[in-house]
Amino acid sequence: MQTQTETHWLARLDEEARALVAAVDAQPDGRRLLDGTLDAEGYIHYLVQTYHYARWSTPILAEGGYRLRRLGRHPELAELLVQKGEEEKGHDRWLLSDLKNLGVPEEQVEAAERSPAVDAYTGWNFFTSLAGVPTAVLGTAYALEYLSRTRAGVWAERLKAVAAIPNIHKSVTFLRSHGALDGDHVAEMQRILAPLTDPEDQEAILFSARVARSVYPRIFRESGATSR
Ligand SMILES: [Fe+2]
Ligand SMILES: [Fe+2]
Repeated sequence: MQTQTETHWLARLDEEARALVAAVDAQPDGRRLLDGTLDAEGYIHYLVQTYHYARWSTPILAEGGYRLRRLGRHPELAELLVQKGEEEKGHDRWLLSDLKNLGVPEEQVEAAERSPAVDAYTGWNFFTSLAGVPTAVLGTAYALEYLSRTRAGVWAERLKAVAAIPNIHKSVTFLRSHGALDGDHVAEMQRILAPLTDPEDQEAILFSARVARSVYPRIFRESGATSR
């Protein structure tokens, strides 16, 4: 049975995740993803920047899990982090394959400039994983998987329906797969995080969810660049 405090803390985490969805919807390119009208340039920008953070997901999550194990704290959360690190393996390849089908070769993706949002995201999450409160990474994961559950599948469907981007049918693997997987991943995290009562960990997880909410929406083109 949940106590009042536990209910309260997960409700606050959901609040951060919902605010992230709202902030993404408020970005010009986020709105275009939702109505399916995003152009190729904007979609490529989004996929390239996503690649530059998603390629680090496995080490960020797994290192947090190993460190938690070494510290001898929250064994079930340590396992969850290691498991989530495993789950993220290969997702960067989906991005490279979607980009290749849009005519962007791997070398060009690798050489692309990372946005300040991506540097902030990887910097913050590597810090908490390697040297901060390692459970914090779960706040980032929760917010992004909640966004993914709510938006990734819809974005893929609308992009295909409007078909403003040439070859879009072959270029939504990353979105489609996450839309399918992350509903279950959010439910699993809710179940495992519900019994967590340690206020330091709760605050660290909430804080990282808030960082994700502030930083992630800035991976899109600033003010939607030249798109409609
Ligand atoms: Fe992923
Ligand atoms: Fe996931």
